[in-house]
Amino acid sequence: MELHPHFQQPDFFRFLVDRDILPVGYAPLGSPSRPERDRRKDDTTPLKDPILMEIADRLGISTAELCIKWAVQRGQIPIPMSINRDHYLKNLKVVTTKPLSKDDMKKIMKIDKNCRLIKGQVFLWENAKDWTDLWDLDGNIKQ
Ligand SMILES: NC(=O)c1ccc[n+]([C@@H]2O[C@H](COP(=O)([O-])OP(=O)(O)OC[C@H]3O[C@@H](n4cnc5c(N)ncnc54)[C@H](OP(=O)(O)O)[C@@H]3O)[C@@H](O)[C@H]2O)c1
Repeated sequence: MELHPHFQQPDFFRFLVDRDILPVGYAPLGSPSRPERDRRKDDTTPLKDPILMEIADRLGISTAELCIKWAVQRGQIPIPMSINRDHYLKNLKVVTTKPLSKDDMKKIMKIDKNCRLIKGQVFLWENAKDWTDLWDLDGNIKQ
């Protein structure tokens, strides 16, 4: 499932954890390099979130590393993509350092914007309205 600080999917997340299913989070950094065709003007940019920037600055890490640290501590497996060796090493190392405080975890929980960034337009069919046809936005699909 897509999981990053601006799309935390708390209900779905809890649904899985309550059933001993470990959530795997894709685009854990908010897919900052996704192609134009996958961008919309109301998309947010988790890596530039002021709260994440404040915490990351204080801890001497990047907001990307903070997203990964938060994800692991929350109980999900983030799968960040990188073609940069230094980023890869930092992304691994950051989960071995001192955990985030409860206060910082709470601050990050509050910046959820329910903003799905990977909307899946490429999977639309002929006569589909738009990307919202692909997702259960109103929670109508019963568990
Ligand atoms: N199942 C499949 O076949 C498949 C195929 C493709 C992708 N995926 C998954 O789909 C998701 C989408 O990937 P995504 O690239 O859109 O999203 P993402 O993992 O949220 O973001 C990756 C981007 O963040 C940058 N980045 C990574 N570590 C960083 C760091 N420490 N500091 C700064 N920038 C950093 C990368 O640039 P650099 O390269 O410069 O580090 C890359 O541009 C990923 O979770 C990926 O694993 C799955």
